[in-house]
Formats: sequence, structure tokens, C-alpha cells
Amino acid sequence: MHAIIFYYTLSGTTKMVAEAIVKELNCEIEAIVDTQKRTGAIGFIRSGYQALKERITTLEPLKSDPATFELVLIGTPVWAGRISVPARTFIVQNKEKLKEVAFFFTSGGKGNEQKIFPAMEQLCGKKPRATLGVTSAECKKELYLEKVKDLTKAIKS
Ligand SMILES: Cc1cc2nc3c(=O)[nH]c(=O)nc-3n(C[C@H](O)[C@H](O)[C@H](O)COP(=O)(O)O)c2cc1C
Repeated sequence: MHAIIFYYTLSGTTKMVAEAIVKELNCEIEAIVDTQKRTGAIGFIRSGYQALKERITTLEPLKSDPATFELVLIGTPVWAGRISVPARTFIVQNKEKLKEVAFFFTSGGKGNEQKIFPAMEQLCGKKPRATLGVTSAECKKELYLEKVKDLTKAIKS
């Protein structure tokens, strides 16, 4: 299956999970690159506020065309219980180009599945083929690797 991951990361966790998925799925990968500064306390507060208000941002142009892939996996960190602003922007700007989709997120705490996946599904207008949610704690202990295997199994089945 011709697949690609588009992911956004601020501090590297979602990137790490995206790269683990690439190893299992042998697909392409591209980072969603934001143009806004989001580091430091002010960046953190602004990002949380913008996510809560479901704002969009200005992204760097994509290198790959999502329309040329059978499956697009979209990865985001959770911000203020929402999809991150750059990942939301990617979906809003590309949803017409998406054939099949799969979603994953990383989060500081537990219990974001019921909010993030339905929100991503609604934004894309498509049911995901598979989903994966992992916490930072699972990432530190490499517990996410089993979950990555489950995701790729679900995609291939
Ligand atoms: C602005 C901001 C808001 C966040 N809000 C939440 C939240 O509401 N719930 C949560 O579980 N984690 C929250 N986090 C933690 C991130 O989701 C978590 O650390 C994630 O793994 C970071 O991914 P990244 O390293 O790819 O940027 C927030 C982080 C940031 C920067």
C-alpha cells in the first residue's frame, strides 16, 4: 500500500512514534512544518489557547502531495485536549486530497482517545482505517512499540 505519514511535533515525541511506524509499515514520512514560534512559556500558552479555539496557522509548503497516496497517516500531539494547531491546519487544507486515513497522537496524560479521534474524523470527513494514542510515559519506556505494531497490523489487515 502506497502510504505516507504527515506528522507535527514540537518536542520530538510524535516524531519518534512516526519513525517507529515507518519502520513497521515501510512508508514515506514528512513533517508538517509550522512558521510560528512555539517555544518558551509564551509559546506554550499561545499554542494551548490557539488549539482550544481551534485556530489554524501558516504552514511551510508540503513536499509530497497527499493526493498521490492511497493512505495518509496523520500524527499530532494533544494540545489543550485538542488536535495541535499545525496538524489541524494540515487536515483543513488537505482533506479533499485524502483517500484513506489513519490517525495517531501523543499526549502527556491518558484518556484523550475519545476526544481526539472523533475530532480528527470529523475534520477529515473520513473514518480512520486505524488509530493509535500513546502517552509520553509509554514513549519513555518504549511501551509504544507494541502499540505501533498493533496499528500497522490493523492497517495491513
Ligand atoms: C501547548 C501544549 C498543550 C498541551 N496540552 C496537553 C493536554 O491537554 N493533554 C495532554 O495529555 N497533554 C498535553 N500536552 C502534552 C503533549 O501532548 C505531549 O507532551 C506530546 O507527547 C508532545 O508531543 P511532541 O513532542 O511531538 O510535541 C500539551 C503540550 C503542549 C506543548
